[in-house]
Amino acid sequence: MQNTPRNDELYEIAERVLPGAGLGGYALPRDIRFVFAEGSGARIRDVDGREFIDYVGGAGALILGHSHPAVVCAAQAQIARGMHMFGTLNEVAIQLAERLVRDIPCAEKIVYATTGSEATAYCMRLARAATGRDVILKFEGAYHGNHDYALTSTFPKTLGDDPQGHDDTAGRPAGTRSTMAVAPYNDSAAVERLVKARGHELAAIIVEPVQRIIPAQAAFLQSLRRICDENGILLIFDEVVTGFRLAYGGAQVHYGVTPDLASFGKVIGAGGPLSCVAGRADILDLSDPRRKGEPNYVYFNGTLHGNPVAAAATLAMLDALKEPGVYDRLNTYSERVCGELQSVLDRHDLAARAQNTGSLWQILFMEQTPRSHADMMAGDAAAGRRLDAECMKRGIYALPGVRRFFSTAHGEAELEDTVRILDAACRALTAESVPA
Ligand SMILES: Cc1ncc(COP(=O)(O)O)c(C=O)c1O
Repeated sequence: MQNTPRNDELYEIAERVLPGAGLGGYALPRDIRFVFAEGSGARIRDVDGREFIDYVGGAGALILGHSHPAVVCAAQAQIARGMHMFGTLNEVAIQLAERLVRDIPCAEKIVYATTGSEATAYCMRLARAATGRDVILKFEGAYHGNHDYALTSTFPKTLGDDPQGHDDTAGRPAGTRSTMAVAPYNDSAAVERLVKARGHELAAIIVEPVQRIIPAQAAFLQSLRRICDENGILLIFDEVVTGFRLAYGGAQVHYGVTPDLASFGKVIGAGGPLSCVAGRADILDLSDPRRKGEPNYVYFNGTLHGNPVAAAATLAMLDALKEPGVYDRLNTYSERVCGELQSVLDRHDLAARAQNTGSLWQILFMEQTPRSHADMMAGDAAAGRRLDAECMKRGIYALPGVRRFFSTAHGEAELEDTVRILDAACRALTAESVPA
């Protein structure tokens, strides 16, 4: 990546004022970092005018690609009417809530939040209040956001028998550990064992219906529903990624399993500051502000909750997603691209797979579809990151080693360019690993 004067200039400032010259959890190595300038459809450009095919898609928020005309139009019209309102209702927030209650199976009501992390934290608080129990069971390798409860065994370096899991961050109070339990993904027997031992302490089981890039087995989600019902435990789907991506309405539509509560963000929000918790009315009503002062009242509040610009953009996005055939086309396209990418990997004799579940995809250096975090750890993640970095040098934006997304804006040109770039990247990777 050469001749990048504006990128260099901006990174010089960023190095001084942002830790690691990054935003949040990612700081890209010098040879592949760039500063985003603009995006249109499936392509983005950096501040020096270089173009990339975008597979990050705003961390999955932009299922229609960048700057979809209907979404831009809806957001602009709302900005002109007012960026934000607090305290009283706004029209679009009500319209969106009505739509979500109609279209999400578990949603008898919804409450708004601002980010996916906030939504999962609220799910946990509601579950604890509703059951009077403290412990939440999560799965090894699952990501539920940036709060202390969520940061349990998300990136464990060793696989834990430790049922309380590993701390993923410094600064997490030691007391948090006793409020979380951890089990391996797709392993109903392990969940049964844990519930047998500690079921009376468990408020909820929270699960990603596709954990990072690992698909849930339908029988696993069905067994979670049964185990929860038999033990008075609430089932939470973290649909921040899968909501309105795996299917219209979310993974709960795709799998036919209805949780008690679900967190939504990313596509819900359309790239703006909006997320929500959807679920049973009797649970969500614990946050009814008229119940303030009652012992079981659950506090919910946020300056940007129900933000009308994000709500208007989301409504426009949902209109476009509701058009007949959208998900079939997106998922068929995703399968087709991954098939072509697999042929490239095979041609280069790489023991890697182009893995997809719907429009979620990643190139993994492993033999089989992973079922658990243990399988992910057994793969050659370093080789995956090297290949991703080689792709990025050649014009594909996908964070090395991280699951990525197709959008409805990706088409034949992106397929052709991605195949060509992957081919060149594989050549570079195999040349690199040939001993001199
Ligand atoms: C499954 C899942 N849950 C929760 C979150 C947290 O969402 P946010 O980054 O909006 O706080 C993420 C973010 O990537 C996620 O993938």
